[in-house]
Amino acid sequence: MPKASKPLPVKQKSSKGDIAQDKRSVKPLLHQQQQTHSGETQSYGEVVPRPHGLREKVAKKSVELLNQALADTITLRDMYKKHHWQVVGPTFNELHLMEDKHYEAQVELVDAIAERIQVLGGISLAMAADVAEATQIPRPPKGREPASVQLSRLIDAHTHVIKQCRASAKKAGDAGDSGTDDLLVSQVLRTNELQVWFLSEHLVAASPV
Ligand SMILES: [Fe+2]
Repeated sequence: MPKASKPLPVKQKSSKGDIAQDKRSVKPLLHQQQQTHSGETQSYGEVVPRPHGLREKVAKKSVELLNQALADTITLRDMYKKHHWQVVGPTFNELHLMEDKHYEAQVELVDAIAERIQVLGGISLAMAADVAEATQIPRPPKGREPASVQLSRLIDAHTHVIKQCRASAKKAGDAGDSGTDDLLVSQVLRTNELQVWFLSEHLVAASPV
């Protein structure tokens, strides 16, 4: 009868040193270079190479145009939520729901623009203070405005985005960045054109004849 093989030795854990090492490996390393530029791995405005086949100069210009579109789109998105919350009057329910629907579409645009910037090797604007500095849309008051004023304010913001979008798309397309051109026309421009139409029809209905 063959002899049973000897069981393999089980690795013994643990000297005190091993236990201390294991504990260190799960301990979060907090407060790493916070709030200093020295902690950045890429500065805002810098464009790093990505395999998109565009010249760096073209990518850098597109990133600049897209960050402007992003700042204005984030502002318009947030203006929709403000008005969704603050609207009052006989058309409350309709405007409340429409403004939330438009808000959701603007949320998608924000993500699409921001990710296009990353595709091009750039850095997207993100934080409210930076967006407030960059946007060209006038700041609304903190308080409540009448529904018709809210609608006019939204329409003006859309018109600004639409004009900027057409000009930026043309610049990107002329420079050979057809991906940015397409994003700005197919998604940003068309969404804004549709939404501004819905808003303006509400103002016609509310006008005294
Ligand atoms: Fe809501």
